[in-house]
Amino acid sequence: MKRTLGVCYYPEHWPEDVWAEDARRITEAGLTWVRIGEFAWSRLEPAPGRLDFDWLDRAIATLGAAGLKVVLGTPTATPPRWMIDRHPDMLAVDAQGRPRKFGARRHYCFSHRGYLQECRRITTLLAERYGRSPHVAAWQTDNEFGCHDTILSYSEVARHAFRDWLSQKYQSPEALNRAWGNVFWSMEYDSFDQIDLPNLTVTEPNPAHVMDFRRFSSDQVVAFNRAQVEIIRHHSDAPIAHNYMGRITEFDHYATGRDLDIASWDSYPLGFLSDRLEASAEHKATFLRQGDPDFQAFHHDLYRTVGRGRWWVMEQQPGPVNWAPYNPAPLPGMVRLWTWEAFAHGAEAVCYFRWRQAPFAQEQMHAGLLRPDSAPAPGFAEAVEVARELDTAPEVAATQGEVALIFDYASAWAWDTQPQGADFDYFRLVFAWYRALRALGLNIDIAGPDTRDLSDWKLVLAPGLFTLPPALREALTTVAGQVVFGPRANSKTADFTIPPALPPDLPGLDARVTRVESLPPGTGIPLAEGGAFRHWAEEVEGSAPVILRRADGLPALLGSEKLAYLTGWPCDETLRAIVRRLCAAQGIPTHDLPAGLRRRQAGDLCFRFNYGATPVKWEGVEIPAAGVVWTRG
Ligand code: GAL
Repeated sequence: MKRTLGVCYYPEHWPEDVWAEDARRITEAGLTWVRIGEFAWSRLEPAPGRLDFDWLDRAIATLGAAGLKVVLGTPTATPPRWMIDRHPDMLAVDAQGRPRKFGARRHYCFSHRGYLQECRRITTLLAERYGRSPHVAAWQTDNEFGCHDTILSYSEVARHAFRDWLSQKYQSPEALNRAWGNVFWSMEYDSFDQIDLPNLTVTEPNPAHVMDFRRFSSDQVVAFNRAQVEIIRHHSDAPIAHNYMGRITEFDHYATGRDLDIASWDSYPLGFLSDRLEASAEHKATFLRQGDPDFQAFHHDLYRTVGRGRWWVMEQQPGPVNWAPYNPAPLPGMVRLWTWEAFAHGAEAVCYFRWRQAPFAQEQMHAGLLRPDSAPAPGFAEAVEVARELDTAPEVAATQGEVALIFDYASAWAWDTQPQGADFDYFRLVFAWYRALRALGLNIDIAGPDTRDLSDWKLVLAPGLFTLPPALREALTTVAGQVVFGPRANSKTADFTIPPALPPDLPGLDARVTRVESLPPGTGIPLAEGGAFRHWAEEVEGSAPVILRRADGLPALLGSEKLAYLTGWPCDETLRAIVRRLCAAQGIPTHDLPAGLRRRQAGDLCFRFNYGATPVKWEGVEIPAAGVVWTRG
């Protein structure tokens, strides 16, 4: 498969007489795809029912005539102003009970039936008109579900929809009371109509109540997305994608992914390093202009699974962004490196955001491939360089990972609801395990909690899983090597209670967690062979053989070469040492990579990515600063 490049383009932002020139330059740069349309509702329908699609016809025709393939976005992330007059109660409401006003984007509540109907209407109009267009070669639903904290809405319409959802799930208030444990603090209900959304309570609401609200909110996103997908499929054979984000866990991406053909995500490495990652000031300074060496790769591996093998980067940072607290410029070479890293992890396409920097409105400080005066910005030459390289580069083969890491959205909701320690964040925990694996040069696959077959991997890691889903419990019999569960695994029932058989309750592992503790920054529990647990530690009883001990003699890692359990959250170096040992036991070769260097094996190609600001020599190969080098073997 030929890997391709593209760019996000907004014909409605520019005079029509520059479109053809833009299209020519995009093609000449070696790009194949243009994503358009995702925010254009006010121009497609300036007043209710007054449609103007002629300009979009001409834009698509112009881009198509230049040989470009269009990804057409549905414009439902930006309902126009008149929509609010039509549906005044469609705005999402924040946890403080304040409506989120018009004047930016994503100002809608997923539960609003009237707005959903409007979205069906505009999607139908687009799909009918362009479903058979020879130039529309892919679709995007909406834009970045979850951006700007928009999944959870505490609106009146959400309250009613939540009651319906609960009544379907529990059938009777008694069953709900039992499941939630509402006898506690006299929280029992007589009817579903009494149940409110879990915000503005005097102290924390019942975690079971919150957990159901999180599940409900995720289901609303899945249904909202599915409504558009069904319409598009009816009129078009082109694949349908959504553009997901970095570190957004508020809805179940595997569930939306099952309805889509392609998962794509929006990769802004410098913005993420600055505002979406727990890391030391030193780490952030070292990688200021390169981004975290593992954050992008984690999402590449995650979205490969969400897309069931088919995934893109729909938006790639091309220069400084506008939205992080500080917005540095990338080191020369990083735009190329980020792009190649996506390809090495299996991306079919990488599209840059955006073609030309906008001189107006919210994102006027956000770089594009072109400056606002249409001259090339520094990222442009790197995009062109990748396009040229793609002409001659060898095929990047799809590659089975050596290790699987389980990532589960429900676990993120659960530990967000009841963290028990201010630092216990599920993404942070799983990402720490990912970094440990990647620092050892391993190819990692991220697997969902419903994975039924674990026979492809020699090592499967599952830290922090809220419950052990039945499918995964069964899949434990299919493991070829070892499964290692981490702290808090299977420590609750789906109803958010402590299970009668104390966790982790894993088949064939006689171990029960009898006490847990969370630890503030700067403290820890030393381990016998050096290193320490931070953030979280557990005491365990049972007869399972102990593999590693804490300095106080309690088990740190216990179990067998098939199934083991780690009783705490190790600091980074300790985790790396533990992972190295687990790999050695399974015969998985590891690599000790120099700081900032990462590798990925794709078929017989070995890619090396230097996130460092100075050149590195490794295994006889010199990798320039901010450079990528691939060799065979
Ligand atoms: C993304 C979004 C784009 C643009 C970009 C700026 O989150 O999808 O529309 O806002 O960020 O970095």
